Amino acid sequence: MRRVFLDHAATTPLLQVARDAMLPWLDGRPANASSLHASGRKAKDALDMARETFSSALGCLFGEVVFTSSGTESCNLALVGVALAHPGQRRRILVSAAEHHAVLHTRPILERLGFQVDLVRVGPDATVDLDDLQSKLGDNVLLVSVMQANNEVGTLNDIPAIVAAARKHGVLVHTDAVQTFPLCGKVDGLGVDLLSFAAHKFGGPVGVGGLYVRGGTPVAPTAVGGGQEREMRAGTENIAACVGAAAACQRNIDSAEMIEAAKSGARDAFLLELGDTAVFSMPGSSKLPGHAHVRFPGVDNESLLIRLDRMGVEASAGAACSSGSIEPSHVLLAMGWSEAEAREAVRFTIGYETSVDDAFWAAAVVREAVSAVRSA
Ligand SMILES: Cc1ncc(COP(=O)(O)O)c(C=O)c1O
Repeated sequence: MRRVFLDHAATTPLLQVARDAMLPWLDGRPANASSLHASGRKAKDALDMARETFSSALGCLFGEVVFTSSGTESCNLALVGVALAHPGQRRRILVSAAEHHAVLHTRPILERLGFQVDLVRVGPDATVDLDDLQSKLGDNVLLVSVMQANNEVGTLNDIPAIVAAARKHGVLVHTDAVQTFPLCGKVDGLGVDLLSFAAHKFGGPVGVGGLYVRGGTPVAPTAVGGGQEREMRAGTENIAACVGAAAACQRNIDSAEMIEAAKSGARDAFLLELGDTAVFSMPGSSKLPGHAHVRFPGVDNESLLIRLDRMGVEASAGAACSSGSIEPSHVLLAMGWSEAEAREAVRFTIGYETSVDDAFWAAAVVREAVSAVRSA
């Protein structure tokens, strides 16, 4: 049966170049980059080369890239690590209401550390309300965390504008660039102090991510032990994953224009074929090229997704709760949608391997599934 995967914001298939780069490191050779013997030195060289690729993608120094196990760990380390390292008077942290849970769910930990976490309002397109941010900034704020692109609706925050507002008060800025890296821009242009990324979002393997930490920004480790990653993240580095991630990163940079054009071409074909079956959530806003976030009035998203899965189209909505059903997305609620509207939303995300033919076929399947759910 034909299947089309349209959930690339959740994860992406491994690129062939990443697989090829990883294979030699999966052949049974010992690979601990902290060991002083020849095998260890070889692993260290490979790790250094991978780190070099990431630092050049970000335009930062080699030592400013810290490898982690995921985007989640990277975001956790940015917020909790910065909080742990700052015992001073700045006891407030600002995060946008549309952040990923990897940021939002650090709140109870930060509160236990004595910080107050304030949510910054977002507008109807999920981007930060700059007036609300400015009104909340002050000399008692330590850190602002705002994502570059929203993972659900795909819209982009103006990170330099957020940095400019924060700098007036000497506030540090973290951006979650998990949905945009490595095409997020260089850190000097963005102006941020910390930036998170995850390899499985751009054709690299699951199990590796990273945090850019501007030199001189104090970050205390949340994993302690061997002192790896310049004392910011202990634990033996996953050489195969880091090497694969670097290969995927380079491929994305080398083929950026082609990948972006292919994604937006397939996305536009998908939306065209969907026609008035769906309401496109973000018609005018600046957005990621592969995102098609839509609402099907009168259609329960959970029933639709189950039916689509059976018919060969894989997409998603909101987040699964512990009972396995879909909770209305906190992002859509923050944007001002009602719970009922949020339960009609579905996120389709196109990837580098999605063809225009896949997009047309998938949209035709969606139309059929929607009318089946409506008449059920
Ligand atoms: C914006 C954003 N931040 C963080 C994460 C977490 O990344 P990971 O799945 O690598 O833990 C995701 C994953 O969906 C994401 O989309």
